[in-house]
Order: sequence, then structure tokens, then C-alpha cells
Amino acid sequence: MPDTPTRLSPQAVIRQVFEGLDEHELEELLETGQVRHYPSGHVLCREGEMEHTFYLLLDGQVDITIQMLDGTPRKVSQRKAGEYFGEMALIENRPRSATVTATTETEVFEFSEEVFDALLAENPQIATMVLRQLTTYLRKSDQAAIADLSRKNAELAKAYNDLQAAQAALVIKERLERELEIAAEVQQSMLPDVFPEIDGWAFSGHNEPARTVGGDLFDIIPLDEEHIGLLLADVADKSVHAALFMAVTRTLFRAEATRSHSPAETALNVHKGILGASSRDDMFVTAFYGVLNTRTGDMRYVRAGQDFPIVLRPSGGSFEELMPRGRFLGMLTDLSLEEAELHLAPGDTLVVYSDGVTDMINASGRAYGIDDLLSLLRVNSQLPARDICQAIFDAISAHRGQADTFDDATVLICQRQPGG
Ligand code: CMP
Repeated sequence: MPDTPTRLSPQAVIRQVFEGLDEHELEELLETGQVRHYPSGHVLCREGEMEHTFYLLLDGQVDITIQMLDGTPRKVSQRKAGEYFGEMALIENRPRSATVTATTETEVFEFSEEVFDALLAENPQIATMVLRQLTTYLRKSDQAAIADLSRKNAELAKAYNDLQAAQAALVIKERLERELEIAAEVQQSMLPDVFPEIDGWAFSGHNEPARTVGGDLFDIIPLDEEHIGLLLADVADKSVHAALFMAVTRTLFRAEATRSHSPAETALNVHKGILGASSRDDMFVTAFYGVLNTRTGDMRYVRAGQDFPIVLRPSGGSFEELMPRGRFLGMLTDLSLEEAELHLAPGDTLVVYSDGVTDMINASGRAYGIDDLLSLLRVNSQLPARDICQAIFDAISAHRGQADTFDDATVLICQRQPGG
């Protein structure tokens, strides 16, 4: 059954609380005290105040609160009908030790400090009962305070442990980020930032990884007095795995390119090297690799799954997409690559790009696309190689706007200068 307070008479409460009073003493107490009503919220005792009243609760309930150091009240106890409060200040002759507030409509029987003192002085057994009751109350509130402190301590310890774990995770994250930054620096250092100076020719290239490190690469490899290798490759994966394979692919091409001037042979040897270097069977690389004779302008090349390179021929205001067949490197054991030929006349420009260029999407999900790229190149075909490269990256950046980048974008340009 819930503890519903019921109104008690002053006689009943006095008898219950001060056991052993004779009828005469009871009558005297009843005459010296008075019954009072208080609304809910009324403060009957105020902590720190010198007050001189003792209360027997006849009806309703009160809360007993003590102010914490930060000013917030902490409930330490409560009283219901048949119990009393306000005895501590009177026994000690000091200010109230707590604030007592009615939490319901309340009826009390009040009497003065003098009457209370006389009652205790004349009835040692009542004084003992009051002290015993007081000890019980204080013991209970001590236990509650200790339980509360233990709970808060446990919460604090957990919060501290969580904070330490979060800090440790942060340190690891920062270290990993720093390591990735170093990897990115190493990776960028593998890409040409100065281009060969060959009479009649201009080269340019640029790479923007979607994440800190990427899987695209381009390279210009001097082979002999009049031949150079032109490479653009795209490892079909993201992040660190792609970055490591990008380095492997570059090394393989650099090593194989010096052994043969046949792009198909070089690319096939690289293909075998990749097959041997990876145990993963979903790992592949698309690549354009061409060997240019810088004296004649003739180029032999392979297109291994790479997007069609574009040749701009401003003389006729036209362009060509180079479409020889060839699957990607590093996956199929029976790979064959078609080696094609191309002649670059003075003023012609070869533009090789990775699919990150044409797949660059804007905020509404539309890709930049080959048509946009061709229109841009048509307008800019007369520009120097470096400016064409810049124009492509400006265009895809403008197209992308605030949208996220999902793929690395790389461009390699080889231009035979007019009159070259
Ligand atoms: P007094 O100090 O006169 O006024 C406030 C009253 O609240 C006090 O007497 C006791 O009756 C009661 N009180 C104070 N502290 C506690 C406590 N820790 N546990 C129970 N009751 C208390």
C-alpha cells in the first residue's frame, strides 16, 4: 500500500512521539502549543536562521534540504504525519541546520523552544528518544551522502577513463594523419614537377588525388636521345592500397620502359609484374603508355583500359579520340594489347586524362563528361600545354563547386609546338 499521509490529532502524535508522558503533561503540552496550516511550498525552517519553534507534523509532508557549496539544495530527508522536525537547532542552541519546506498542504502542531527544553529536562527518557531518533536520521543521511558520493566518483572515474581513451584515439588519429600526409608528400614527389625541355616539344601534367593519397600517376620517362615514354595510369582502388600500387606500377614501368621501345611489350611486362606483385584478384590498373620519337613526331602507344586519349589538331580545327583495343593490366592472365601509331604534327596536342576528370560530379550529381571536355579543348587547343592543363583543372573545379571528389583526377599533355 502506498504511504498516504492521513491527518492525525495533536494528542495522537504527541503520544506516539513522546512515549511515557502522563495525561497531565500531555494536557500541558496541548495548551502551550498551537495547530497551524501551511500551503505547499511554505518554508517552515530556514537553514542558517536562529529560530525557536519545534514542529510535530499532523498532516502533509515536508522536505529537508541542505545547501551545497555551489548553492544548489540537496534533499537529505523528509517527514510525514506523525513525525517531528526542528529539534536540532533547539538542542544545540544554534541556527537551523537545514531548510524545511512543505511539499503538500501541511498541518503542524508547533510549540516554543522553552516548552521543548522543559519537556526534555523533565523527561530524560524523552530526551534519549529524541537523541536516538536524531542519530538514526543523521546515520541515514550520512549513508545516502556516501552512496551518492560513491556513485558520482564512479561516474567521474568513467568519464576520466573515457576521456583518456578518446585522447589516446586522438593521438593515434593524428599520428595516422601525419603519416598519410608524409605518404602524400612522397607520392607527389614521384610525379614530375619539371618537364623535359626538348626542342619543339612542350609537356605538362597534373594530379589531384580525391583523398590524401591516390592511385593515379603520370610520368615522362627519357629513353634515349630521341625517344621518351609517356605514361598515365590509374590503379583501380582508393587510398593507401591504391597509393602503394601506384608506386609499384611506376617502378615497373620505369624499369620495363628502358628494356624495350615497344609500348605493348613494356606494358605486358608491367602487367606480369603486377600479377606477380599482388595476391588480390580484384586488383587492376588502367594505363596509357606511348613511346614518342621526338625527332619525327611519331608515337607508338597502347591503351590498356584507359579512357580514350584525345589528339587536338588545330590546323584542321579537329580532334581525334584514340581507340585501339586493350584491357587493363594486372588481372587477366591472357592479356593482349593492340599497339597503335600516331603522328603528331607541329601544333598538335595529345591530351591523356584519367576517368576522375570526366567523372567529376557537381552538387546535383552530374558528371563533367567527355562532351564538356571536348568543348573545352576545342576552345583552348591553341594554348601552350601548361595552360591547357590548367584550363582542364579550372573547369572541373568550377564544375564540382562544393561537391565531394570521389576519384583522383590526372592529366598528361604532350604538345608539338607550332613550327617544331
Ligand atoms: P533544525 O536544525 O532545528 O532545523 C532543520 C531540521 O531538519 C533539523 O532541526 C532536523 O529536524 C532536520 N534535519 C536536519 N538535518 C537532517 C538530516 N541530515 N537528516 C534528517 N533530518 C535532518
